Amino acid sequence: MYLTKEEERICDGEFGWANQICMKILVRLGELFNATRLIPINSAHVSGVSYKTLGDAPSDFLEALANADAKVKVKATLNPQSFDREYLCKKLPPDLCQKQSDIMTYFEKMGFTESLTCTPYYLENPKRGSHLAWAESSAVVYTNSVIGAWTNREGGPSALAAAIIGKTPDYGMHKVENRQPKALVKLEKQLQSEVEFGALGNFLGKILEDKIPIIQGLQNASKDNLKHLGAALASTGMVNMFCHENRGIKFNEIEKINVETKDIKQTIENLTTTSTQEPDLVFVGCPHCSLNEIKQVAELIGSGKVKDGTEFWVCTSQHIKEKARKYVEKIEKSGGHILTDTCAVVTWTDKLGIKTIMTNSAKTAHYAPTLNKAETILAPLKECLKTAFKG
Ligand code: F3S
Repeated sequence: MYLTKEEERICDGEFGWANQICMKILVRLGELFNATRLIPINSAHVSGVSYKTLGDAPSDFLEALANADAKVKVKATLNPQSFDREYLCKKLPPDLCQKQSDIMTYFEKMGFTESLTCTPYYLENPKRGSHLAWAESSAVVYTNSVIGAWTNREGGPSALAAAIIGKTPDYGMHKVENRQPKALVKLEKQLQSEVEFGALGNFLGKILEDKIPIIQGLQNASKDNLKHLGAALASTGMVNMFCHENRGIKFNEIEKINVETKDIKQTIENLTTTSTQEPDLVFVGCPHCSLNEIKQVAELIGSGKVKDGTEFWVCTSQHIKEKARKYVEKIEKSGGHILTDTCAVVTWTDKLGIKTIMTNSAKTAHYAPTLNKAETILAPLKECLKTAFKG
């Protein structure tokens, strides 16, 4: 891999240990994927922020970097942590919260923006065609497919290293030839709800391997529904992008996949692991809610109140919560909780006694049985609200 004189000097340790180790991570990664050079990035987004998913050894590495004066060179945002600062922080064991707070101190010292969201594109929309190093898989698919910025699916360490160096190896999704669809997906029937979009993603992720699909019939899909599709697609497979507009592709040259209505129905059924209709938690906001999704929740709940014994969480970023003030007030008055900086998957729901989670997110329904040790019910927003609310 070609390195500039300055990159070589960083690699040799002339700019300190932190820069050296980060440069070495990027060079090693580039060599693995036959990159010929590093390219500048406009932003980095780091996952592996929650102590629940991170654990102790990576926290020690973050501490060492921060103490060695590592500083970000580009705008660098963070994925959700393991609690919010108003509600869950008071309910979870203090020693776990302290470990999470330590992690945040290290990130802050390195100059990261405390965005704590998996939808960093709501804070600042990346420019079409710009190169990024993002690690959250749902955000990677969304930014490649809907926004048109270019990023590989980074791991936590490579996104961190890219943030410190301001560059990433030039391979994979940074190359135009790797952004072409390799499979044509035809839907038997138009998708009706965010749950069906999520189910399509979950279904395709398992069969596509890393082939980019072009999916027919999505021209009128909302951005929120495309977000659900991309998040679920990334949770079951290695695809980092889907196409939803025909850009002069020769369909006769690529593989065809027909998705039947029964495939979607079956996927939704598979993502529901229990027959109970009384979940401990009803959760929306995976990926973190947009302003429009919060507005929808507030409008649909009317004057209803959350049922006794049921938790109702809406997860989003601080940025969107600020913008959604009047909807937030209404949801909180109803007994629901608007949680920022975290989500049901990256917090310790089991320590809160939550055994069954109902959600409109196929991604959460996919992960919750293992990461939360919870039963799941996957259903569209309206049904989730009907279950969570009385009146
Ligand atoms: Fe975001 Fe948590 Fe879902 S990080 S994509 S809300 S699992």
